[in-house]
This record gives sequence, structure tokens and C-alpha cells, in this order.
Amino acid sequence: MIKMKNLTLGYKKEKILNKLNLKIKKGEFIGIIGPSGAGKSTLLMSVVGGIKVFDGHFEVLDYNMENIKKKELIKLRKQVGIIFQGYNLVDRLSVLDNVISGMLKDIPMARAIIKYYKEKELKKVQKLMEIVDIQKHSLKRCDELSGGQRQRVAIARALASDPKIILADEPISALDQKSAEKVMKILEKINEDLKVTIIANLHHLEIANQYCHRIIGVNKGIIIFDGKPSELTNEIIEKIYEGEASEEPEE
Ligand SMILES: Nc1ncnc2c1ncn2[C@@H]1O[C@H](COP(=O)(O)OP(=O)(O)OP(=O)(O)O)[C@@H](O)[C@H]1O
Ligand SMILES: [Mg+2]
Repeated sequence: MIKMKNLTLGYKKEKILNKLNLKIKKGEFIGIIGPSGAGKSTLLMSVVGGIKVFDGHFEVLDYNMENIKKKELIKLRKQVGIIFQGYNLVDRLSVLDNVISGMLKDIPMARAIIKYYKEKELKKVQKLMEIVDIQKHSLKRCDELSGGQRQRVAIARALASDPKIILADEPISALDQKSAEKVMKILEKINEDLKVTIIANLHHLEIANQYCHRIIGVNKGIIIFDGKPSELTNEIIEKIYEGEASEEPEE
């Protein structure tokens, strides 16, 4: 699904990730770990083409990312769901409307404006809300929900376009432990039942070890580790997080 060969990625003139070599297959559940500024979000977002390719070979879902055309990029992005730490929901809209917005590419604008949805579409939304266990709040506005509930709505919305890949950038960083576990369990179920490939940036190492089949450890733009959680030794963990404490203070 994703292939990176000697890939160097970054922004404008700045190279951030160097000589990446990765192959990601359908159905994997991958956790990316590493200190702040390591390049985790850059790595994740490169999958939807927002990041400059300096050198090397890069393929996502059979699209060549080195010189991908805008039209192809739009097609690719329809197949990738994204979840952020900050949810990115429309607060004043209901749970149902937010989830349905994930399907809008399939619903003509005129129907969307008057909120005329077909039976089939409503059934699908119902099912998605069940998957993330938010159906009993379906008519509530999103600003009436807790953080965990909002993140579950965001997952349902991401699923609405039947993605092959879900990218999750720190999906649980803003949540308490119980809500975080619920969100991770839902992602695990989506991965197992729907065979969606999931790549998640995670700050909590224990959570990454518990839910992910494969861990990619990044530090200073380099992949330090790529393997099973059981292969992560204390020595490797130290290497992945090396230099974190000496980060300059936040302004
Ligand atoms: N839009 C951008 N333009 C230029 N440089 C950027 C941009 N976004 C990030 N960077 C730089 O890329 C480097 C890696 O940032 P990235 O956000 O990928 O790190 P991260 O591992 O996700 O960190 P965190 O854990 O804090 O989210 C940093 O030096 C950052 O300043
Ligand atoms: Mg980040």
C-alpha cells in the first residue's frame, strides 16, 4: 500500500526526514513514536501528499507520489481518512451531520444543503455511529460532547468515505485514560473487522505497544526502529527518545 525507498521528505528547502525505507501492507496497525519535532506528523501527512519529496521513491496506493498530479491526489485523498488530536468537527452541527459530512463526496451538494439524505445513506451513518458507539447522541450538537465522544465522531466521519487507510495524528493525546482506551479499542476493531490500515502517531509508548502490531520509532528525521512491540528494548527506546529532554523550551 505504501512504499518508501531512500526517501527524503521535508518543507520548501528544509529536509526533515532522511533516507526512509518503509513498506506498509494492507491491514497493518502501525504506531509511530518519537520525541517532539522528530518528524512524526510530517511522515504521517506525507501519505496524503502534502509534503515535499526531495529524493527517493515514494508510492501510496499505487500512486507515484514524486510527481503526482492534482487530479490523482484528489482521488488518493478520498481513500485516506484522517483523525487529528483536535477533532476538526463542526461544533454547531449534530453528530449525524458531522458523520454524514464524511460522505459528502457521494452526495450532491443540493441534497446536502437541504439535508435530504437517502435511506441508504442514513443506514450507513447509523452503522458508523454504532461502530464508534455514539448512536445515542446522534442528534446532539458536537459542542455538547466530551473529548472522547468527539474523537469517536471524528473516527466515524473518517470511515464514512470507506477509506483504505486511516491516519491518526495523536488521536488520544487530549483524552483521559479511559476515553483514550475506548478510542484505541475502536481503532483496533476497525483494523480487525474492516481491514483498514491504520497508522497512528502516539505519545504513549504503553498504548502503542498494547494496540499496534508494528512500531516505527523516529528521532531527528531518521527511522531508529521498525519492528514488533516485543522487539523494543529499553536501549532502543532510549535511542528513540534521545535528546528529548534537551529540547529548547517552548516560547
Ligand atoms: N509546515 C511546516 N513548514 C516548515 N517546517 C515544518 C512544518 N511543519 C513542521 N515543520 C518542521 O518539521 C520538523 C518535524 O515536525 P513534525 O511536526 O513532523 O514533528 P512531530 O514529531 O510530529 O512533533 P510533535 O510530537 O511535537 O507533534 C520540525 O522541525 C518542524 O519545525
Ligand atoms: Mg506531530
